[in-house]
Amino acid sequence: MTTTPSPALQPRVDGARLWQSLMDLAQIGATPKGGVCRLALTALDGEGRDLFVRWAREAGCSVRVDAIGNIFARRAGRNDALPPVMTGSHIDTQPTGGKFDGNYGVLAGLEVVRTLNDRGIVTEAPIEVAVWTNEEGSRFVPVMMGSGVFAGAFTLDHALAQRDTQGTSVAEALAAIGYAGEQGPTPAVGAYFEAHIEQGPMLEANGCVIGVVQGALGQRWYDVSVQGMEAHAGPTPMELRRDALLAASALVAEVNRIALAHAPHARGTVGVLEVFPSSRNVIPGSVRMTVDLRAADDAVLLQMDAELRAACERLGHAGRTPITVEQVVYFPPQPFAPQLVEGVRADAQALGYSAMDVVSGAGHDAVYLARLAPTAMVFVPCADGISHNEIEDAQPEHLEAGCNVLLQAMLRSAKV
Ligand code: GLV
Ligand code: MN
Ligand code: MN
Ligand code: MN
Repeated sequence: MTTTPSPALQPRVDGARLWQSLMDLAQIGATPKGGVCRLALTALDGEGRDLFVRWAREAGCSVRVDAIGNIFARRAGRNDALPPVMTGSHIDTQPTGGKFDGNYGVLAGLEVVRTLNDRGIVTEAPIEVAVWTNEEGSRFVPVMMGSGVFAGAFTLDHALAQRDTQGTSVAEALAAIGYAGEQGPTPAVGAYFEAHIEQGPMLEANGCVIGVVQGALGQRWYDVSVQGMEAHAGPTPMELRRDALLAASALVAEVNRIALAHAPHARGTVGVLEVFPSSRNVIPGSVRMTVDLRAADDAVLLQMDAELRAACERLGHAGRTPITVEQVVYFPPQPFAPQLVEGVRADAQALGYSAMDVVSGAGHDAVYLARLAPTAMVFVPCADGISHNEIEDAQPEHLEAGCNVLLQAMLRSAKV
């Protein structure tokens, strides 16, 4: 038995073209510090989508948009009735986002299509590149919104009704940028692959180029509000205060303690803290805050949930600063498909790239796609493991390597 793949199965992507596309897309919403701010469903997101759609059409793809604004660029297969082999990610960013988070997975998919075109390779199954709506969950909750609707994790109506802090709904924002598409039944997916920067330090620390992703941490997100009472900062004695910020700040420390107590595979973050009325000589009357808990084990995540709720009870100080907790996101830890994961490892090895197993601490659209189809992810290193930061950086040759692995993995599933 020969182990050498046929030459048709060994095409290589154009790393320079991939890099140039990343830099071109990063112009849209570019920040002075070298990052990107392109929040979901803003005009800038619309511009980024338009650019992707133009590139996909130029590459010969047909393009469709679904009712939550997910974009699917399709390269026909020899047997076009087969479920597509899909890849993709997101192009919305954090407020202080980088050039690579999400954008890499989308443009790596486009580079796969361009490479197949260059080589005149026809796959048996169609290839699709998806741009999922609002992966970041920064402007609108829930996170991974487009892929969540696609996979049936929550309903389209629920997603469309969500509002940002200005009161704009997802439905209104989608219509405003012209990406409210057609609602239809969810099409079958043959397999799903997603390339992404690691967003953590493991690959770099171990000198590895490819992360073979075993799965992703589960997450629970909460909206928390703390009710106190505004009063004058001077005349009100310390023991008579109902200071909402004092209780909230103790809760921030509790969230940190809860995650540390379940180390090493648990995380706890308070990313938003809004103090009302935010006047320096008024005792804070209320606080709105967010909590993000993550763990590798669903039972641990549930335990952390219980500990958070107990802490809120305790810090409510017998009704003096009552704390309400509303869970707004939950998904359990998601393992990826062993056969595809092993395929990624074999492809990395065959291509001569060093590889190691990693677990994703970040959420990805692949987490929801894994409910519908065999799914795997390919990670590449990012500088100092930094992401969700304008200084996020990655090396062109690593991005090229990850894209070559993506290409091979997709070719195996789509068959030539
Ligand atoms: C999404 O970017 C996440 O928080 O993992
Ligand atoms: Mn991402
Ligand atoms: Mn992100
Ligand atoms: Mn993410």
